Amino acid sequence: MGGSKTYADYLDLHTLLSLQGDDSKLSNDEQHFIIVHQNFELWFRLVLIELRAARTLLLQPTLPEEDVPRIVHHLKRCTEIFRLMTSQWKVMETMTPQDFLAFRDGLGTASGFESYQMRELELLLGLKQSQRVGEMDPLGHFRKLAERGGPDAEVLKKLEAESAIPALGEILATWLSRTPIQGSVAGSDNDDDMVKQFVNEYLAAHKKVGDDTVARMTGHGVNNMVAVEERFAFAHQAAIDFLMPDGEISRPRAGLLFIESYRNLPLLTWPRILIDTLVELEESLVLFRTHHVRMVERMIGRRVGSGGSSGVDYLEATLKYRVFGDLWAVRTMLIKQERLPELKNPDFYGFA
Ligand code: HEM
Repeated sequence: MGGSKTYADYLDLHTLLSLQGDDSKLSNDEQHFIIVHQNFELWFRLVLIELRAARTLLLQPTLPEEDVPRIVHHLKRCTEIFRLMTSQWKVMETMTPQDFLAFRDGLGTASGFESYQMRELELLLGLKQSQRVGEMDPLGHFRKLAERGGPDAEVLKKLEAESAIPALGEILATWLSRTPIQGSVAGSDNDDDMVKQFVNEYLAAHKKVGDDTVARMTGHGVNNMVAVEERFAFAHQAAIDFLMPDGEISRPRAGLLFIESYRNLPLLTWPRILIDTLVELEESLVLFRTHHVRMVERMIGRRVGSGGSSGVDYLEATLKYRVFGDLWAVRTMLIKQERLPELKNPDFYGFA
């Protein structure tokens, strides 16, 4: 630390520690409630800083290879923060439902629903309004709050600015669409044909794996084979729909499938690490939500939330949110190495 600055000066500790309310007016439980919330908000702030840094790097029109580890580094920090926060719900659970009821009325309609940093984080990742539960419209809520002016108006501006920038999910799709497939570079002359051939060969291999499994199960006398066969047929149709939504091949999805399938190729090492990191990040966010809702159920049962939602029912519905839906979905259709279509142009990927 430079000059005559103290630890407290450097961290602005006097200001920070004056923000938890008046000790003489608050019960221990309420102080704890405030401090735990503030902790989460501080971590959200850091997650936002890291995600913005990752997005800026990923937004580059061509991503230099050495930047991928930097993106992974930013994202991994976010995952660790979410893991830490997930364990912090335990501190909240040291409070009993009665302890909470003693000061809950004082919250009025204040609710975690209004955590604008959490909303910014969701926007930055790429959660869309259409993916949200029923009528819940956080931006609409902040639009109403903005009518009060001051910091509330600033919050809306920030959230709207965030919505105007491509989210990580979108940028990722653009990046995936540039994946060389069977050695074919996106936009090159016969790229469409190469990608089509890969997709067709993959789907044929996928079908064969399903058919072989059905035959094996029939041979082993598995019950209810009609239903089992339907499940495999459904899974195969889902693979077709995934790779060819609206009948057209999706190059980002084909690229993703290629990376996941030939993930041991040297050139695909960092792309697959980036994908794994994003899945891990989203998993940590889902687990964070999961532990929040269990803590909430323990605290307030199934009563209406202070923000007016159905409480636990609403929060449970949010556990379905997936920003990186394709990264999760592709896992369903992976097949083992030996059954994959033959790799073309292996030298392109670093195998002579
Ligand atoms: C006794 C402790 C807590 C209870 C009983 C509780 C309860 C709830 C309830 C019922 C909701 C649904 C919205 C509503 O109607 O209010 C909610 C949402 C939320 N809470 Fe909590 N909460 C608690 C602590 C926390 C803490 C410490 C945080 C950390 C910031 C937090 C963050 C959130 C967030 C971000 C949402 C929005 C979820 C979404 O809309 O996806 N909560 N909470």
